[in-house]
Amino acid sequence: MQNIFVSEHPLVKHKLTILRDKTTEPVKFRQLVRELGALLCYEATRDLELRPAAVETPMGTAAGAHLADEVGLIPILRAGLGMVEGVWELIPNAEVWHIGIYRDEKTLRPVQYYNKLPLSPRVGTCLILDPMLATGGSAIATCTILKNWGVRRIKFVGLIGAPEGVKALNEAHPDVPIFLAALDERLNNIGFIVPGLGDAGDRQFGTGD
Ligand code: PRP
Repeated sequence: MQNIFVSEHPLVKHKLTILRDKTTEPVKFRQLVRELGALLCYEATRDLELRPAAVETPMGTAAGAHLADEVGLIPILRAGLGMVEGVWELIPNAEVWHIGIYRDEKTLRPVQYYNKLPLSPRVGTCLILDPMLATGGSAIATCTILKNWGVRRIKFVGLIGAPEGVKALNEAHPDVPIFLAALDERLNNIGFIVPGLGDAGDRQFGTGD
């Protein structure tokens, strides 16, 4: 596996543990997805480009910097939606472009159902947001969509990944770094991450059985 960053931050580990807990209710679950989204985004944006800017303080002039990169957030519907607010706390000007993809339950192949990207991108760096990287099919399809759209730099920001999904995304898009809160053991026979946290969409939105 290459180009993968798994956070070792104590806050990430603590919040992820509560997130995984099967007794965590949707309201708390949503809060944690939002907070973890921000913490992972902080790690993923370490190398954003800056332009120097002098700033007048009450006491004199300080050498400062402003972001030079235009950042786009690409939440994969539905579960990626919950990470957007957290990332917006850090990058309030980020554009958000939604991509709707669900996994066919039988084939586990991604099915695209929503894409309203304009003709050409105004953003240089895109952060794909999705809590779960299982087979990698949804992330791979989204990277392909963004590359065809003309995006220069893409990063995947998730919460939990399976080795199978990391490997598949690495192979399909070796230039896309992967940022996670945890790399879990494996996928089970129905394509769920073990131990994972269950279905991130259902647990946020209170749907499912
Ligand atoms: C889940 C998850 C990812 C995808 C990961 O979405 O949120 O988008 O599966 O699986 P993959 O790596 O094997 O593609 P799901 O299909 O359950 O849709 P939902 O978010 O609308 O619930």
